[in-house]
Amino acid sequence: EFEMELPPRPELFDFHGVSLTHYITDNWENLQNFQARPDDIVIATYPKAGTTWVSHMLDLLYFGKSSPERGSTMPISERVPFLEFTAPGQPSGVEAADKMPLSPRLIKTHLPVQFLPKTFWEQNCRIIYVARNAKDSVVSFFHFARMNMAHPEPGDWPMVFGSWYDHVKGWWEKKQTNPKILYLMYEDLAEDMGLELDRVCSFLGLSLTEEERCKMIEGVGFDAMKKNSMTNYSTVKVMDFKISPFMRKGKVGDWKNHFTVSQNEQFDKEYQKKMTHTTLHLRTEI
Ligand code: A3P
Repeated sequence: EFEMELPPRPELFDFHGVSLTHYITDNWENLQNFQARPDDIVIATYPKAGTTWVSHMLDLLYFGKSSPERGSTMPISERVPFLEFTAPGQPSGVEAADKMPLSPRLIKTHLPVQFLPKTFWEQNCRIIYVARNAKDSVVSFFHFARMNMAHPEPGDWPMVFGSWYDHVKGWWEKKQTNPKILYLMYEDLAEDMGLELDRVCSFLGLSLTEEERCKMIEGVGFDAMKKNSMTNYSTVKVMDFKISPFMRKGKVGDWKNHFTVSQNEQFDKEYQKKMTHTTLHLRTEI
């Protein structure tokens, strides 16, 4: 049975134009005063874009050789702290990052670009942003919010971290003038992991032997990550896997199983309006 001593689901409120919950805003001052190191690497995403996927990949890239057991013994949430998150009875993301012994620190954030603590810009840190097409993101987020009690019940818009449009466009615009940002897309990762892995390595100045590269591609595959309790979030108490697993489908185009024809038409209309002034193009199928 799912233990019910969990706190109630949080409410969503407007915070400087972005809908957030107290789990994100409670530590705001410490968050904004965070001290980055120049070699920190930020993994930034709107939720459900493939955060865990890229986090696991980067952790294996940096520490897989020196500690091969790390990826199968340490939950992803410990290897890559969630910077803005705070909940009673556990170290905040900021505290966890402060205490990280290894370099480089890999740091996860879902913050829209305007909320990223300024220290990361001052230190000229490298940032890997991952975007995923809106339709699959919304389907994935819907299932995730049903099973994750640290989110409001889904169904009511908007979602935590505000508008998907503002998020993906905000980071995309920033990337145009900041070469320290690498902008990845879930669909590209799904289509050709080898190619994206090479892009990531060249961005980070890393190189892999052919054997390491093959091992890496296998290690970050959906099946491997779904089986691995250090990446599938089965160790996290706020998630109810009877409702939906964290590693749910891992597909491009699952939205087709959820959108009716008329919902899809409505969605496309809205999408076109919101995306007129951007060069960003995300694929809803591959
Ligand atoms: P689905 O719900 O569509 O299955 P995040 O880590 O940002 O919360 O994103 C979670 C989504 O990424 C889930 O999508 C999950 O299945 C998918 N995902 C995680 N690891 C993956 C992998 N190795 N390959 C493909 N998809 C992956």
